[in-house]
Amino acid sequence: MEQGLALHHVGVRFGGLTALDDVSLRVAPGQVVGVIGPNGAGKTTLFNVLCGFVGPHEGSLTLDGRPFRPRPHRLTRLGIARTLQGTGLFAGLTVLENVVAGASHAARAGFLAALLGLPRSDREERRLRRHALAVLDTLGVAGYADAVPGTLPFAVRQRVALARALAARPRLLLLDEPAGGLGGEDIAELAELIRELPHRDTDPCAVLLVEHHMDLVMSVCDEIVVLDFGRVVATGTPEAIRDDPAVADAYLGAAVDEAAA
Ligand SMILES: Nc1ncnc2c1ncn2[C@@H]1O[C@H](COP(=O)(O)OP(=O)(O)OP(=O)(O)O)[C@@H](O)[C@H]1O
Ligand SMILES: [Mg+2]
Repeated sequence: MEQGLALHHVGVRFGGLTALDDVSLRVAPGQVVGVIGPNGAGKTTLFNVLCGFVGPHEGSLTLDGRPFRPRPHRLTRLGIARTLQGTGLFAGLTVLENVVAGASHAARAGFLAALLGLPRSDREERRLRRHALAVLDTLGVAGYADAVPGTLPFAVRQRVALARALAARPRLLLLDEPAGGLGGEDIAELAELIRELPHRDTDPCAVLLVEHHMDLVMSVCDEIVVLDFGRVVATGTPEAIRDDPAVADAYLGAAVDEAAA
């Protein structure tokens, strides 16, 4: 059986504009797969298809070989977590509460119950908090557990958002532009973190990374898919992608367009 999440010949149109055209890719367990491409290439659209925000007009998706129609609110139950561009943390909750909310998404008591303030057993509550703290600790930000997100540096908030996604123990993590707004040193640390995710002892998870920051993608991915005008123009290892003339064309074309604009 084909393990992991796969897109098969996916097409998406917005009116007359083709945002994705015949796109196929797969993220298998143990892998970090990157999707790169110049502005407007279709990266966010692809991410939105995977999350269920956008339905494909053509093609299909499978999860472990079975037909899969993503729905945003059902992803966690299927073992898929995501972070969005920006951090999307709840401003009125502490860091720990934010991560507990991520964990309880997956927990039996349910996220809605948590939001509505319905009682959870003390034991369940303690278990979730312990787990959330452990996840914050693995990301090196447990020290901020009682702070509210608004007071924290952006790089810390990014990690908290990552912790919230990982608290649900996903087997696949979808990341949209995680390096956005980060400086060089923070990006290097983020890269190290992402690289480890599929190989760690507890709760290993595969990663699909949508990102136009070329260095990050090159340094963490096992496989890279390059989009240009909605089409896959190259797929391969970072080394193969670096030397592929189609990739240089896509980025050079974009650079020339920008220079002309
Ligand atoms: N909701 C929408 N309605 C109409 N057109 C859209 C919509 N979303 C995206 N597009 C168009 O689809 C194409 C692909 O856009 P998309 O946002 O997926 O690109 P991207 O690779 O994420 O670009 P960027 O690097 O700028 O984030 C673009 O031409 C964009 O203008
Ligand atoms: Mg985008």
